[in-house]
Amino acid sequence: MATSTATTQSVQDYYGKVLQNSDSLATNACTTAGRPPPIIRELIKNVSPEVISKYYGCGICIPDCLEGRKVVDLGSGSGRDVFIISQLVGGKGKVVGVDMTKEQLEVAREGVKFHEDKATEMKLSFGNVDFVEGYIEKFNDILPDDMKDGQTDVVVSNCVINLSPDKEAVLRDAYKCLKEGGELYFSDVYSDRRVPDELRKDETLWGECISGALYWNDFLGLAKKCGFSDPRLVEDSRISINNAALERKCGNIKFYSATYRLFKLPELESDCEDYGQAVIYKGTVPFLGGSSEHAFKLDAHHVIEKGKVFPVCGNTWRMLKETRFQEHFDYIGNFNEHYGIFDGCGKNVPFESVNDNGKGGGASGGGGCC
Ligand SMILES: C[S@@+](CC[C@H](N)C(=O)[O-])C[C@H]1O[C@@H](n2cnc3c(N)ncnc32)[C@H](O)[C@@H]1O
Repeated sequence: MATSTATTQSVQDYYGKVLQNSDSLATNACTTAGRPPPIIRELIKNVSPEVISKYYGCGICIPDCLEGRKVVDLGSGSGRDVFIISQLVGGKGKVVGVDMTKEQLEVAREGVKFHEDKATEMKLSFGNVDFVEGYIEKFNDILPDDMKDGQTDVVVSNCVINLSPDKEAVLRDAYKCLKEGGELYFSDVYSDRRVPDELRKDETLWGECISGALYWNDFLGLAKKCGFSDPRLVEDSRISINNAALERKCGNIKFYSATYRLFKLPELESDCEDYGQAVIYKGTVPFLGGSSEHAFKLDAHHVIEKGKVFPVCGNTWRMLKETRFQEHFDYIGNFNEHYGIFDGCGKNVPFESVNDNGKGGGASGGGGCC
């Protein structure tokens, strides 16, 4: 494995040796996700208790329409999300977890047998599952041959990229392995300002997924630099830390757990432009918790009701028409005529609660549109 640094070594020790299970975390940063929706809770029942006990995720990073898809989970840990997603991709799909920590990989690999027995018991065909050891800064090369270099449909990650000393390399490799129309859909920790160096050097705060957090506006710039032109915020919540000593160290910095979706669509524009287009949702996406037969949730600002003519900017149009969501919509319009900037764009502060301190700005699609 290439790319070992003092930071990755310390994180490996933290997840391999210091933490025994989610109860041994010093803060609640890794466990802020709300209760999963009922359908996901049913799928979790087919995952081994040992895998669940070593789950350290901070969000729900399970997007819609995964059947038959090839999915990579970055920093898969003990594998909870891999085992959930494998039930959604089904027998024709595939899920690969990538992690650098041997102890976590061992738990994940032991979970495979439990999972296969469940599939047999339920007479269902779950997707192929594999776990590979390696760094998320250079994972494209260690993927199976049919998933590297533009062949992966979806990359997910749950509370991991903040731990990386080289977040740009992670985003670049995600872009590289994805198909056009594919997406990086991930939950992570962000801050409302840049985290000072002395906190970034604190191994506990870093290991707990706090001080490695990117300031949200730096994240948006980085995502765009790596080719993901219009990042969309799906959901967010404030992290309370819940540890008086560590909270004191962090002072006034606010931290958020947030799920973003970043599409690999080279023709996306830097801003949301109006071409007079609209979409109509057919109500055909299976219910998972976000979307349903009544409404499709693209992001926090696009919940598209079934049957309604829903005006969209050019970027949103492409996120639906040029991705795996294509068949679930009817499309009105084209790119022939431009009507200016799409009404509703331009707000920059992504997280609802960042505005609590009167900074203004309002919630937006995370630097994208609307
Ligand atoms: C907070 S845990 C989350 C694990 C898993 N996603 C979950 O939800 O339970 C972080 C995981 O990311 C892995 N990790 C952190 N940095 C990594 C890196 N640079 N390369 C590979 N794995 C990494 C750790 O080994 C650990 O298993």
